[in-house]
Amino acid sequence: MRIRPSRGLGAVTTVAALAATVAAPVAAQDETAPQAVTTEQEMVVTANPLATRAGEQVLRNGGTAADAAVAAQLVLGLVEPQSSGLGGGAFVVWHDGETGEITTYDGREKTPMASGEDRFVGLSFTEAWQSGLSAGVPGTPALLEELHSDHGGMPWQRLFAPGLRLALGGFEMTDRTAALVDSYLARNDSCTDRLFFRDPVAFEYFTNGSETDCAAKPGGTRMRNPDYANTLKTLRKEGAEGFYTGEIAEAVAEAVQTDPHIPGDMTVEDLAAYDVVERPAVCADYRGHEVCGMGPPSSGALAVGQMLGILEHFDLGDDPLAPEAVHLFTQAGRLAFADRNLYVGDTDFVTVPVEGMLDEDYLAERAALVGEEDMGTAEPGTPPGEFDPTAPQTESNESGTSHVSVVDRYGNALSMTTTIESGFGNGVMVDGGGFLLNNELTDFSFAPTDDEGVPIANRVQPGKRPRSSMSPTIVRDADGQVELVTGSPGGSRIIGYTAQSIINVIDFGLDPQQAINVPHYGNRNTTTTDIEPPIPGVTWDYDVEAPRAALEARGHQVSLTTQTSGLGVIQVTEDGLVGGADYRRDGAIGGQ
Ligand code: DON
Repeated sequence: MRIRPSRGLGAVTTVAALAATVAAPVAAQDETAPQAVTTEQEMVVTANPLATRAGEQVLRNGGTAADAAVAAQLVLGLVEPQSSGLGGGAFVVWHDGETGEITTYDGREKTPMASGEDRFVGLSFTEAWQSGLSAGVPGTPALLEELHSDHGGMPWQRLFAPGLRLALGGFEMTDRTAALVDSYLARNDSCTDRLFFRDPVAFEYFTNGSETDCAAKPGGTRMRNPDYANTLKTLRKEGAEGFYTGEIAEAVAEAVQTDPHIPGDMTVEDLAAYDVVERPAVCADYRGHEVCGMGPPSSGALAVGQMLGILEHFDLGDDPLAPEAVHLFTQAGRLAFADRNLYVGDTDFVTVPVEGMLDEDYLAERAALVGEEDMGTAEPGTPPGEFDPTAPQTESNESGTSHVSVVDRYGNALSMTTTIESGFGNGVMVDGGGFLLNNELTDFSFAPTDDEGVPIANRVQPGKRPRSSMSPTIVRDADGQVELVTGSPGGSRIIGYTAQSIINVIDFGLDPQQAINVPHYGNRNTTTTDIEPPIPGVTWDYDVEAPRAALEARGHQVSLTTQTSGLGVIQVTEDGLVGGADYRRDGAIGGQ
Protein backbone atom coordinates (compact mmCIF):
# COMPACT_ATOMS: atom_id res chain seq x y z
CA MET A 1 0.00 0.00 0.00
CA ARG A 2 1.20 3.48 -0.77
CA ILE A 3 0.52 6.47 1.49
CA ARG A 4 2.13 9.86 1.53
CA PRO A 5 5.50 9.29 3.23
CA SER A 6 5.46 12.58 5.14
CA ARG A 7 2.33 11.61 7.04
CA GLY A 8 4.45 9.64 9.47
CA LEU A 9 2.24 6.62 9.10
CA GLY A 10 5.05 4.39 7.95
CA ALA A 11 4.02 1.68 10.34
CA VAL A 12 1.04 0.82 8.20
CA THR A 13 2.86 0.94 4.90
CA THR A 14 2.96 -2.33 3.14
CA VAL A 15 3.94 -2.08 -0.45
CA ALA A 16 2.10 -4.28 -2.83
CA ALA A 17 3.61 -2.82 -5.96
CA LEU A 18 5.13 0.59 -6.15
CA ALA A 19 5.69 3.24 -8.74
CA ALA A 20 6.40 1.58 -12.00
CA THR A 21 6.48 3.22 -15.38
CA VAL A 22 3.47 5.25 -16.36
CA ALA A 23 2.55 6.82 -19.65
CA ALA A 24 4.71 9.89 -20.35
CA PRO A 25 2.51 12.98 -19.98
CA VAL A 26 2.30 15.75 -22.52
CA ALA A 27 2.45 18.59 -19.97
CA ALA A 28 5.43 19.11 -17.70
CA GLN A 29 4.90 17.25 -14.44
CA ASP A 30 6.08 18.47 -11.11
CA GLU A 31 8.42 15.84 -9.70
CA THR A 32 8.34 17.35 -6.22
CA ALA A 33 4.69 16.30 -5.93
CA PRO A 34 3.63 12.71 -5.12
CA GLN A 35 4.07 10.15 -7.90
CA ALA A 36 1.63 7.56 -9.27
CA VAL A 37 1.52 3.91 -8.27
CA THR A 38 1.12 1.03 -10.71
CA THR A 39 -0.23 -2.42 -9.96
CA GLU A 40 -0.89 -5.38 -12.20
CA GLN A 41 -4.44 -6.44 -11.60
CA GLU A 42 -6.30 -4.82 -8.74
CA MET A 43 -6.32 -1.52 -6.92
CA VAL A 44 -8.24 0.38 -4.27
CA VAL A 45 -7.92 4.05 -3.40
CA THR A 46 -9.54 5.61 -0.33
CA ALA A 47 -9.02 8.67 1.84
CA ASN A 48 -7.50 6.71 4.72
CA PRO A 49 -4.66 4.13 4.90
CA LEU A 50 -6.56 1.77 7.22
CA ALA A 51 -9.58 1.72 4.93
CA THR A 52 -7.35 1.16 1.91
CA ARG A 53 -5.65 -1.69 3.69
CA ALA A 54 -9.03 -3.29 4.46
CA GLY A 55 -10.00 -3.07 0.79
CA GLU A 56 -6.60 -4.30 -0.33
CA GLN A 57 -6.80 -7.40 1.89
CA VAL A 58 -10.20 -8.27 0.49
CA LEU A 59 -8.90 -7.93 -3.08
CA ARG A 60 -5.86 -10.08 -2.30
CA ASN A 61 -8.14 -12.76 -0.97
CA GLY A 62 -9.98 -12.81 -4.28
CA GLY A 63 -12.83 -10.51 -3.30
CA THR A 64 -14.59 -8.31 -5.83
CA ALA A 65 -14.58 -4.53 -6.02
CA ALA A 66 -17.96 -4.63 -4.24
CA ASP A 67 -16.50 -6.69 -1.39
CA ALA A 68 -13.56 -4.30 -1.11
CA ALA A 69 -15.82 -1.25 -1.01
CA VAL A 70 -17.94 -2.79 1.77
CA ALA A 71 -14.88 -3.60 3.90
CA ALA A 72 -13.38 -0.16 3.25
CA GLN A 73 -16.62 1.64 4.11
CA LEU A 74 -16.98 -0.25 7.40
CA VAL A 75 -13.49 0.96 8.33
CA LEU A 76 -14.00 4.51 7.05
CA GLY A 77 -17.01 4.96 9.34
CA LEU A 78 -14.68 4.26 12.25
CA VAL A 79 -11.37 5.87 11.34
CA GLU A 80 -12.62 8.82 9.26
CA PRO A 81 -15.84 9.38 11.22
CA GLN A 82 -16.14 13.01 10.17
CA SER A 83 -16.77 12.04 6.56
CA SER A 84 -18.96 8.99 6.08
CA GLY A 85 -20.46 6.02 7.86
CA LEU A 86 -23.46 3.87 8.68
CA GLY A 87 -25.49 6.93 9.61
CA GLY A 88 -25.06 8.47 6.16
CA GLY A 89 -25.67 7.83 2.48
CA ALA A 90 -23.71 6.99 -0.65
CA PHE A 91 -23.83 6.54 -4.40
CA VAL A 92 -22.09 3.75 -6.31
CA VAL A 93 -21.35 3.50 -10.02
CA TRP A 94 -20.66 -0.10 -11.00
CA HIS A 95 -19.12 -1.45 -14.21
CA ASP A 96 -19.60 -5.17 -14.46
CA GLY A 97 -16.54 -6.96 -15.80
CA GLU A 98 -18.55 -9.93 -17.02
CA THR A 99 -21.47 -8.28 -18.77
CA GLY A 100 -19.94 -4.88 -19.54
CA GLU A 101 -23.06 -3.26 -18.09
CA ILE A 102 -22.88 -0.10 -16.10
CA THR A 103 -25.39 0.78 -13.41
CA THR A 104 -25.73 2.99 -10.37
CA TYR A 105 -26.97 2.48 -6.83
CA ASP A 106 -28.71 5.30 -5.03
CA GLY A 107 -28.25 4.97 -1.26
CA ARG A 108 -29.06 8.61 -0.65
CA GLU A 109 -30.72 9.59 2.63
CA LYS A 110 -34.47 10.32 2.57
CA THR A 111 -36.62 12.76 4.48
CA PRO A 112 -38.91 11.41 7.19
CA MET A 113 -42.53 11.10 6.01
CA ALA A 114 -43.68 13.75 8.48
CA SER A 115 -41.52 16.31 6.74
CA GLY A 116 -43.17 19.49 5.50
CA GLU A 117 -41.89 21.77 2.75
CA ASP A 118 -41.22 24.44 5.35
CA ARG A 119 -38.87 22.24 7.37
CA PHE A 120 -35.98 24.70 7.30
CA VAL A 121 -37.80 27.98 6.70
CA GLY A 122 -36.54 30.67 9.08
CA LEU A 123 -33.52 28.67 10.23
CA SER A 124 -29.91 29.58 9.55
CA PHE A 125 -27.77 26.87 7.99
CA THR A 126 -25.98 26.27 11.30
CA GLU A 127 -29.21 26.07 13.28
CA ALA A 128 -30.60 23.51 10.87
CA TRP A 129 -27.32 21.60 10.51
CA GLN A 130 -26.75 21.12 14.25
CA SER A 131 -30.22 19.70 14.88
CA GLY A 132 -32.39 16.62 14.54
CA LEU A 133 -34.12 18.18 11.54
CA SER A 134 -31.13 17.76 9.26
CA ALA A 135 -30.77 13.99 9.71
CA GLY A 136 -32.08 11.97 6.77
CA VAL A 137 -32.94 8.27 6.95
CA PRO A 138 -29.51 6.65 6.41
CA GLY A 139 -28.90 4.75 3.18
CA THR A 140 -25.38 3.36 3.54
CA PRO A 141 -26.14 0.09 5.40
CA ALA A 142 -28.82 -0.89 2.85
CA LEU A 143 -26.58 0.14 -0.03
CA LEU A 144 -23.71 -2.04 1.21
CA GLU A 145 -25.99 -5.03 1.53
CA GLU A 146 -27.48 -4.60 -1.94
CA LEU A 147 -24.08 -4.03 -3.53
CA HIS A 148 -22.76 -7.17 -1.90
CA SER A 149 -25.81 -9.22 -2.77
CA ASP A 150 -25.59 -8.17 -6.45
CA HIS A 151 -21.81 -8.21 -6.92
CA GLY A 152 -20.06 -9.62 -3.89
CA GLY A 153 -17.94 -12.75 -4.08
CA MET A 154 -16.81 -13.23 -0.52
CA PRO A 155 -19.13 -14.14 2.35
CA TRP A 156 -20.70 -10.99 3.89
CA GLN A 157 -19.49 -11.97 7.35
CA ARG A 158 -15.83 -11.92 6.33
CA LEU A 159 -15.99 -8.29 5.21
CA PHE A 160 -16.46 -7.17 8.80
CA ALA A 161 -13.14 -8.46 10.13
CA PRO A 162 -11.00 -5.32 9.57
CA GLY A 163 -13.63 -2.93 10.96
CA LEU A 164 -14.26 -5.12 13.98
CA ARG A 165 -10.59 -5.58 14.70
CA LEU A 166 -9.95 -1.86 14.64
CA ALA A 167 -13.06 -0.93 16.62
CA LEU A 168 -12.13 -3.36 19.39
CA GLY A 169 -8.34 -3.34 19.18
CA GLY A 170 -8.01 0.37 18.60
CA PHE A 171 -6.63 2.77 16.03
CA GLU A 172 -5.01 6.17 16.15
CA MET A 173 -7.16 9.25 15.77
CA THR A 174 -5.74 11.11 12.77
CA ASP A 175 -4.41 14.64 13.01
CA ARG A 176 -7.03 15.60 10.49
CA THR A 177 -9.92 14.33 12.61
CA ALA A 178 -8.50 16.03 15.71
CA ALA A 179 -8.03 19.35 13.92
CA LEU A 180 -11.59 19.23 12.60
CA VAL A 181 -12.99 18.51 16.07
CA ASP A 182 -11.10 21.50 17.40
CA SER A 183 -12.26 23.74 14.60
CA TYR A 184 -15.90 22.98 15.42
CA LEU A 185 -15.38 23.25 19.20
CA ALA A 186 -13.93 26.72 18.64
CA ARG A 187 -17.38 27.81 17.46
CA ASN A 188 -18.94 27.11 20.87
CA ASP A 189 -19.25 29.71 23.63
CA SER A 190 -17.76 27.40 26.26
CA CYS A 191 -17.32 23.73 27.17
CA THR A 192 -20.73 23.71 28.77
CA ASP A 193 -22.60 26.00 26.38
CA ARG A 194 -22.20 23.96 23.21
CA LEU A 195 -24.01 23.73 19.91
CA PHE A 196 -21.18 21.80 18.23
CA PHE A 197 -20.69 18.45 19.98
CA ARG A 198 -23.81 19.26 22.02
CA ASP A 199 -24.47 15.53 22.13
CA PRO A 200 -22.84 14.07 25.26
CA VAL A 201 -21.94 10.78 23.51
CA ALA A 202 -20.00 12.48 20.70
CA PHE A 203 -18.55 14.98 23.14
CA GLU A 204 -17.13 12.23 25.29
CA TYR A 205 -15.83 10.21 22.35
CA PHE A 206 -14.03 13.01 20.51
CA THR A 207 -12.93 15.44 23.23
CA ASN A 208 -11.26 15.55 26.62
CA GLY A 209 -14.82 15.86 27.81
CA SER A 210 -14.68 17.93 30.95
CA GLU A 211 -16.35 21.23 31.76
CA THR A 212 -12.98 22.96 31.88
CA ASP A 213 -11.02 21.00 29.26
CA CYS A 214 -12.99 20.14 26.18
CA ALA A 215 -10.22 20.26 23.58
CA ALA A 216 -10.20 17.52 20.96
CA LYS A 217 -8.37 14.34 21.87
CA PRO A 218 -5.04 14.88 20.17
CA GLY A 219 -4.09 13.22 16.88
CA GLY A 220 -2.45 9.88 17.65
CA THR A 221 -4.82 9.12 20.55
CA ARG A 222 -5.64 5.42 20.68
CA MET A 223 -9.37 5.21 20.01
CA ARG A 224 -11.64 2.24 20.69
CA ASN A 225 -15.29 2.12 19.74
CA PRO A 226 -16.99 -0.97 21.23
CA ASP A 227 -20.44 0.42 20.38
CA TYR A 228 -19.45 0.55 16.71
CA ALA A 229 -18.21 -3.04 17.03
CA ASN A 230 -21.61 -4.06 18.37
CA THR A 231 -23.35 -2.35 15.46
CA LEU A 232 -21.03 -4.17 13.04
CA LYS A 233 -21.80 -7.49 14.74
CA THR A 234 -25.53 -6.91 14.34
CA LEU A 235 -25.10 -5.96 10.70
CA ARG A 236 -22.86 -8.96 10.14
CA LYS A 237 -25.37 -11.35 11.62
CA GLU A 238 -28.70 -9.87 10.57
CA GLY A 239 -27.81 -7.87 7.45
CA ALA A 240 -29.27 -4.42 6.86
CA GLU A 241 -32.51 -5.47 8.53
CA GLY A 242 -30.62 -5.48 11.80
CA PHE A 243 -29.94 -1.80 11.26
CA TYR A 244 -33.32 -0.65 9.96
CA THR A 245 -35.42 -2.49 12.53
CA GLY A 246 -34.97 -3.38 16.18
CA GLU A 247 -32.66 -1.80 18.69
CA ILE A 248 -30.43 0.13 16.32
CA ALA A 249 -33.37 1.69 14.47
CA GLU A 250 -34.93 2.59 17.81
CA ALA A 251 -31.70 4.22 18.97
CA VAL A 252 -31.44 6.22 15.72
CA ALA A 253 -35.01 7.49 15.99
CA GLU A 254 -34.50 8.27 19.66
CA ALA A 255 -31.30 10.24 18.95
CA VAL A 256 -33.12 12.30 16.30
CA GLN A 257 -36.23 12.90 18.37
CA THR A 258 -34.35 13.93 21.51
CA ASP A 259 -31.82 16.21 19.87
CA PRO A 260 -30.69 18.71 22.51
CA HIS A 261 -30.95 21.60 20.05
CA ILE A 262 -34.00 21.03 17.84
CA PRO A 263 -35.65 17.61 17.90
CA GLY A 264 -36.34 15.95 14.56
CA ASP A 265 -39.18 13.74 13.39
CA MET A 266 -37.56 10.53 12.07
CA THR A 267 -39.47 7.44 13.18
CA VAL A 268 -38.73 3.72 13.24
CA GLU A 269 -41.27 3.41 10.42
CA ASP A 270 -39.18 5.78 8.30
CA LEU A 271 -36.16 3.57 8.91
CA ALA A 272 -38.00 0.36 8.13
CA ALA A 273 -39.24 1.85 4.85
CA TYR A 274 -35.81 2.86 3.50
CA ASP A 275 -35.05 1.58 0.01
CA VAL A 276 -31.97 1.62 -2.22
CA VAL A 277 -32.77 2.42 -5.84
CA GLU A 278 -30.82 1.01 -8.75
CA ARG A 279 -30.90 3.63 -11.49
CA PRO A 280 -29.48 3.71 -14.99
CA ALA A 281 -26.10 5.44 -15.23
CA VAL A 282 -26.16 8.88 -16.81
CA CYS A 283 -23.48 8.95 -19.50
CA ALA A 284 -22.03 11.77 -21.58
CA ASP A 285 -19.67 11.62 -24.56
CA TYR A 286 -16.36 13.42 -24.26
CA ARG A 287 -13.89 13.36 -27.12
CA GLY A 288 -14.74 9.77 -27.93
CA HIS A 289 -14.93 8.61 -24.32
CA GLU A 290 -18.09 7.68 -22.42
CA VAL A 291 -18.24 9.42 -19.04
CA CYS A 292 -20.78 7.69 -16.78
CA GLY A 293 -21.97 8.74 -13.37
CA MET A 294 -24.80 9.25 -10.95
CA GLY A 295 -27.95 10.93 -12.18
CA PRO A 296 -30.60 12.59 -10.01
CA PRO A 297 -30.92 12.96 -7.11
CA SER A 298 -27.29 13.77 -7.75
CA SER A 299 -26.48 16.65 -9.99
CA GLY A 300 -23.02 15.09 -10.43
CA ALA A 301 -23.19 13.27 -13.76
CA LEU A 302 -25.27 16.00 -15.35
CA ALA A 303 -23.02 18.85 -14.30
CA VAL A 304 -19.78 16.98 -15.03
CA GLY A 305 -21.23 15.85 -18.37
CA GLN A 306 -22.34 19.37 -19.26
CA MET A 307 -18.97 20.85 -18.39
CA LEU A 308 -17.21 18.31 -20.55
CA GLY A 309 -19.75 18.65 -23.36
CA ILE A 310 -19.10 22.39 -23.43
CA LEU A 311 -15.32 22.02 -23.18
CA GLU A 312 -15.36 19.60 -26.10
CA HIS A 313 -15.92 22.63 -28.34
CA PHE A 314 -12.50 24.02 -27.42
CA ASP A 315 -8.88 23.04 -27.63
CA LEU A 316 -7.60 23.16 -24.07
CA GLY A 317 -3.94 23.27 -25.11
CA ASP A 318 -1.27 21.30 -23.33
CA ASP A 319 -0.88 23.09 -20.01
CA PRO A 320 -3.56 22.61 -17.34
CA LEU A 321 -2.55 25.85 -15.64
CA ALA A 322 -2.55 28.05 -18.76
CA PRO A 323 -4.94 30.99 -18.31
CA GLU A 324 -6.93 29.98 -21.39
CA ALA A 325 -7.57 26.48 -20.03
CA VAL A 326 -8.52 27.88 -16.63
CA HIS A 327 -10.83 30.46 -18.21
CA LEU A 328 -12.61 27.88 -20.37
CA PHE A 329 -13.05 25.56 -17.40
CA THR A 330 -14.60 28.32 -15.30
CA GLN A 331 -17.03 29.29 -18.05
CA ALA A 332 -18.15 25.68 -18.49
CA GLY A 333 -18.62 25.57 -14.70
CA ARG A 334 -20.77 28.68 -14.73
CA LEU A 335 -23.06 27.32 -17.44
CA ALA A 336 -23.40 23.88 -15.85
CA PHE A 337 -24.17 25.26 -12.39
CA ALA A 338 -26.83 27.61 -13.82
CA ASP A 339 -28.73 24.59 -15.20
CA ARG A 340 -28.07 22.45 -12.14
CA ASN A 341 -29.48 25.06 -9.80
CA LEU A 342 -32.70 25.35 -11.79
CA TYR A 343 -33.49 21.84 -12.94
CA VAL A 344 -32.04 19.18 -10.67
CA GLY A 345 -33.96 17.50 -7.86
CA ASP A 346 -35.04 13.97 -6.98
CA THR A 347 -36.65 12.55 -10.15
CA ASP A 348 -39.05 10.51 -8.02
CA PHE A 349 -40.66 13.91 -7.32
CA VAL A 350 -39.76 16.34 -10.11
CA THR A 351 -39.29 16.00 -13.86
CA VAL A 352 -35.69 16.74 -14.81
CA PRO A 353 -34.68 17.04 -18.49
CA VAL A 354 -31.84 14.55 -18.04
CA GLU A 355 -31.31 13.71 -21.70
CA GLY A 356 -31.88 17.28 -22.85
CA MET A 357 -29.26 18.65 -20.51
CA LEU A 358 -26.67 16.45 -22.23
CA ASP A 359 -28.03 16.92 -25.75
CA GLU A 360 -25.20 17.62 -28.19
CA ASP A 361 -26.90 20.51 -29.97
CA TYR A 362 -27.98 22.07 -26.72
CA LEU A 363 -24.45 21.95 -25.35
CA ALA A 364 -23.14 23.43 -28.61
CA GLU A 365 -25.51 26.37 -28.04
CA ARG A 366 -24.25 26.72 -24.49
CA ALA A 367 -20.62 26.54 -25.61
CA ALA A 368 -21.29 29.40 -28.05
CA LEU A 369 -21.91 31.65 -25.04
CA VAL A 370 -18.26 31.35 -23.98
CA GLY A 371 -16.10 34.31 -24.98
CA GLU A 372 -12.73 35.81 -24.16
CA GLU A 373 -14.07 37.61 -21.08
CA ASP A 374 -15.68 36.11 -17.98
CA MET A 375 -19.40 35.90 -18.82
CA GLY A 376 -20.46 36.86 -15.26
CA THR A 377 -23.46 35.09 -13.78
CA ALA A 378 -24.72 32.58 -16.36
CA GLU A 379 -28.45 32.21 -16.94
CA PRO A 380 -29.88 28.71 -17.17
CA GLY A 381 -30.65 27.48 -20.67
CA THR A 382 -33.72 25.67 -21.99
CA PRO A 383 -32.73 22.11 -22.73
CA PRO A 384 -34.96 19.98 -24.93
CA GLY A 385 -37.38 17.69 -23.16
CA GLU A 386 -39.91 17.95 -20.39
CA PHE A 387 -39.35 19.57 -17.06
CA ASP A 388 -41.43 21.08 -14.26
CA PRO A 389 -41.57 24.86 -14.14
CA THR A 390 -39.22 25.58 -11.27
CA ALA A 391 -37.25 28.45 -9.82
CA PRO A 392 -33.49 28.32 -9.28
CA GLN A 393 -32.09 27.36 -5.92
CA THR A 394 -29.85 30.11 -4.74
CA GLU A 395 -28.17 28.71 -1.65
CA SER A 396 -25.38 26.20 -1.90
CA ASN A 397 -24.54 24.96 1.56
CA GLU A 398 -22.22 22.03 1.54
CA SER A 399 -18.81 20.98 3.31
CA GLY A 400 -17.83 15.24 5.52
CA THR A 401 -17.60 13.05 2.54
CA SER A 402 -15.20 10.42 1.25
CA HIS A 403 -14.48 8.70 -2.04
CA VAL A 404 -13.54 5.09 -2.83
CA SER A 405 -12.32 3.90 -6.26
CA VAL A 406 -11.74 0.18 -6.91
CA VAL A 407 -10.80 -2.05 -9.85
CA ASP A 408 -10.65 -5.80 -9.23
CA ARG A 409 -9.04 -8.76 -11.02
CA TYR A 410 -12.37 -9.71 -12.60
CA GLY A 411 -12.56 -6.48 -14.60
CA ASN A 412 -15.19 -4.90 -12.35
CA ALA A 413 -14.83 -1.23 -11.52
CA LEU A 414 -16.54 0.66 -8.71
CA SER A 415 -16.73 4.34 -7.91
CA MET A 416 -18.40 5.22 -4.61
CA THR A 417 -18.80 8.62 -3.01
CA THR A 418 -20.07 8.34 0.53
CA THR A 419 -21.11 11.04 2.97
CA ILE A 420 -22.61 12.27 6.19
CA GLU A 421 -22.63 15.78 4.59
CA SER A 422 -20.81 18.25 6.87
CA GLY A 423 -17.87 17.35 9.12
CA PHE A 424 -19.22 14.93 11.79
CA GLY A 425 -22.69 15.10 10.18
CA ASN A 426 -25.20 16.68 12.54
CA GLY A 427 -22.84 16.14 15.47
CA VAL A 428 -24.87 13.41 17.18
CA MET A 429 -23.47 9.93 17.85
CA VAL A 430 -26.17 7.33 18.23
CA ASP A 431 -26.12 6.12 21.83
CA GLY A 432 -24.86 2.54 21.86
CA GLY A 433 -24.37 2.64 18.06
CA GLY A 434 -20.94 4.24 17.81
CA PHE A 435 -21.74 6.07 14.56
CA LEU A 436 -22.68 9.65 13.73
CA LEU A 437 -25.92 10.87 12.19
CA ASN A 438 -25.83 12.75 8.91
CA ASN A 439 -27.08 16.27 8.24
CA GLU A 440 -27.79 15.49 4.56
CA LEU A 441 -31.19 17.16 4.55
CA THR A 442 -29.50 20.56 4.62
CA ASP A 443 -28.64 19.77 0.98
CA PHE A 444 -32.26 20.69 0.21
CA SER A 445 -33.21 24.23 -0.65
CA PHE A 446 -34.32 25.86 2.60
CA ALA A 447 -36.88 27.92 0.68
CA PRO A 448 -39.59 25.80 -0.97
CA THR A 449 -40.37 28.47 -3.59
CA ASP A 450 -38.99 31.70 -4.97
CA ASP A 451 -40.50 35.05 -4.01
CA GLU A 452 -43.27 34.60 -6.55
CA GLY A 453 -44.30 31.21 -5.27
CA VAL A 454 -42.67 29.17 -8.06
CA PRO A 455 -41.53 25.88 -6.54
CA ILE A 456 -37.84 24.99 -6.36
CA ALA A 457 -36.98 21.54 -7.76
CA ASN A 458 -34.84 20.68 -4.74
CA ARG A 459 -37.42 21.68 -2.11
CA VAL A 460 -38.13 19.49 0.90
CA GLN A 461 -40.89 16.90 0.42
CA PRO A 462 -41.70 13.81 2.48
CA GLY A 463 -39.74 10.72 1.45
CA LYS A 464 -37.57 12.73 -0.96
CA ARG A 465 -33.80 12.57 -1.43
CA PRO A 466 -31.88 15.85 -1.38
CA ARG A 467 -29.96 16.95 -4.45
CA SER A 468 -26.31 16.02 -4.25
CA SER A 469 -23.14 17.08 -6.01
CA MET A 470 -21.46 13.72 -5.51
CA SER A 471 -20.00 12.57 -8.80
CA PRO A 472 -18.69 9.02 -8.65
CA THR A 473 -17.59 8.47 -12.25
CA ILE A 474 -16.38 5.70 -14.57
CA VAL A 475 -14.97 6.64 -17.98
CA ARG A 476 -15.01 4.01 -20.74
CA ASP A 477 -13.64 3.85 -24.25
CA ALA A 478 -15.67 3.44 -27.43
CA ASP A 479 -15.66 -0.34 -26.89
CA GLY A 480 -17.06 0.00 -23.38
CA GLN A 481 -13.75 -0.85 -21.70
CA VAL A 482 -13.03 0.96 -18.43
CA GLU A 483 -10.38 3.64 -18.75
CA LEU A 484 -10.72 5.70 -15.61
CA VAL A 485 -12.44 5.55 -12.20
CA THR A 486 -12.67 8.86 -10.36
CA GLY A 487 -14.57 10.94 -7.81
CA SER A 488 -14.06 13.15 -4.77
CA PRO A 489 -15.58 14.75 -1.70
CA GLY A 490 -15.83 18.54 -1.53
CA GLY A 491 -19.45 19.71 -1.50
CA SER A 492 -20.48 21.40 -4.71
CA ARG A 493 -16.80 21.68 -5.66
CA ILE A 494 -16.91 17.90 -6.26
CA ILE A 495 -18.25 18.58 -9.74
CA GLY A 496 -15.24 20.66 -10.73
CA TYR A 497 -12.73 18.36 -9.03
CA THR A 498 -14.11 15.38 -10.91
CA ALA A 499 -14.34 17.14 -14.26
CA GLN A 500 -10.81 18.48 -13.82
CA SER A 501 -9.42 15.03 -13.04
CA ILE A 502 -10.94 13.80 -16.31
CA ILE A 503 -9.57 16.60 -18.52
CA ASN A 504 -6.21 16.31 -16.80
CA VAL A 505 -5.98 12.72 -18.01
CA ILE A 506 -7.77 12.97 -21.36
CA ASP A 507 -6.71 16.42 -22.56
CA PHE A 508 -3.42 16.98 -20.80
CA GLY A 509 -2.15 13.41 -20.84
CA LEU A 510 -1.40 13.33 -17.13
CA ASP A 511 -1.28 10.17 -15.08
CA PRO A 512 -3.81 9.90 -12.21
CA GLN A 513 -1.47 11.19 -9.52
CA GLN A 514 -0.37 14.20 -11.49
CA ALA A 515 -4.00 14.79 -12.44
CA ILE A 516 -4.75 15.07 -8.72
CA ASN A 517 -1.67 17.17 -7.98
CA VAL A 518 -2.64 19.94 -10.40
CA PRO A 519 -3.96 22.85 -8.35
CA HIS A 520 -7.72 23.27 -8.59
CA TYR A 521 -9.64 26.10 -10.19
CA GLY A 522 -13.25 26.68 -11.01
CA ASN A 523 -16.36 28.77 -10.88
CA ARG A 524 -19.69 27.53 -9.58
CA ASN A 525 -21.56 30.44 -11.18
CA THR A 526 -20.77 32.60 -8.18
CA THR A 527 -19.06 35.97 -8.19
CA THR A 528 -15.57 34.62 -7.79
CA THR A 529 -13.36 32.32 -9.78
CA ASP A 530 -11.48 30.21 -7.25
CA ILE A 531 -7.84 29.24 -7.70
CA GLU A 532 -6.00 26.93 -5.32
CA PRO A 533 -2.66 28.18 -4.02
CA PRO A 534 0.10 25.56 -4.18
CA ILE A 535 0.62 23.19 -1.22
CA PRO A 536 4.29 22.18 -0.91
CA GLY A 537 4.82 18.46 -1.44
CA VAL A 538 1.17 17.91 -2.33
CA THR A 539 0.18 19.96 -5.36
CA TRP A 540 2.23 21.25 -8.24
CA ASP A 541 4.29 24.24 -7.33
CA TYR A 542 3.41 27.28 -9.44
CA ASP A 543 3.28 31.03 -9.35
CA VAL A 544 -0.36 31.70 -8.62
CA GLU A 545 0.03 35.35 -9.54
CA ALA A 546 0.46 34.54 -13.23
CA PRO A 547 -2.96 32.97 -13.83
CA ARG A 548 -4.50 35.41 -11.38
CA ALA A 549 -3.37 38.45 -13.34
CA ALA A 550 -4.34 36.89 -16.68
CA LEU A 551 -7.81 36.01 -15.40
CA GLU A 552 -8.36 39.41 -13.86
CA ALA A 553 -7.51 40.94 -17.21
CA ARG A 554 -10.40 38.88 -18.62
CA GLY A 555 -12.83 40.24 -16.05
CA HIS A 556 -12.67 37.46 -13.46
CA GLN A 557 -12.87 38.30 -9.81
CA VAL A 558 -10.25 35.89 -8.50
CA SER A 559 -10.17 34.38 -5.03
CA LEU A 560 -7.27 32.28 -3.79
CA THR A 561 -9.02 29.46 -1.93
CA THR A 562 -7.79 26.30 -0.28
CA GLN A 563 -9.61 23.40 -1.93
CA THR A 564 -9.57 20.18 0.06
CA SER A 565 -10.50 17.64 -2.58
CA GLY A 566 -10.16 13.94 -1.80
CA LEU A 567 -9.86 12.47 -5.28
CA GLY A 568 -9.21 8.78 -5.82
CA VAL A 569 -8.31 8.04 -9.45
CA ILE A 570 -7.49 4.72 -11.13
CA GLN A 571 -6.52 4.49 -14.78
CA VAL A 572 -6.70 1.17 -16.58
CA THR A 573 -3.82 0.87 -19.06
CA GLU A 574 -2.32 -1.92 -21.12
CA ASP A 575 0.51 -2.07 -18.61
CA GLY A 576 -1.71 -2.37 -15.57
CA LEU A 577 -3.55 -0.08 -13.20
CA VAL A 578 -2.16 3.36 -12.46
CA GLY A 579 -3.47 5.04 -9.32
CA GLY A 580 -3.45 8.42 -7.67
CA ALA A 581 -4.58 9.42 -4.18
CA ASP A 582 -5.27 12.86 -2.82
CA TYR A 583 -2.73 13.97 -0.25
CA ARG A 584 -4.72 17.11 0.48
CA ARG A 585 -6.48 14.55 2.76
CA ASP A 586 -5.04 11.23 4.01
CA GLY A 587 -5.28 9.38 0.68
CA ALA A 588 -3.82 5.89 0.26
CA ILE A 589 -3.50 3.42 -2.61
CA GLY A 590 -3.43 -0.36 -2.27
CA GLY A 591 -3.41 -3.33 -4.58
CA GLN A 592 -1.19 -5.77 -6.40
O1 DON B 1 -24.16 15.24 -1.41
C1 DON B 1 -23.50 16.28 -1.45
O2 DON B 1 -23.29 16.87 -2.47
C2 DON B 1 -22.86 16.85 -0.19
N1 DON B 1 -23.63 16.46 0.96
C3 DON B 1 -21.43 16.42 -0.12
C4 DON B 1 -20.70 17.07 1.05
C5 DON B 1 -19.22 17.01 0.92
O3 DON B 1 -18.69 16.60 -0.06
C6 DON B 1 -18.42 17.54 2.04
N2 DON B 1 -17.00 17.27 1.75
N3 DON B 1 -16.04 17.67 2.06
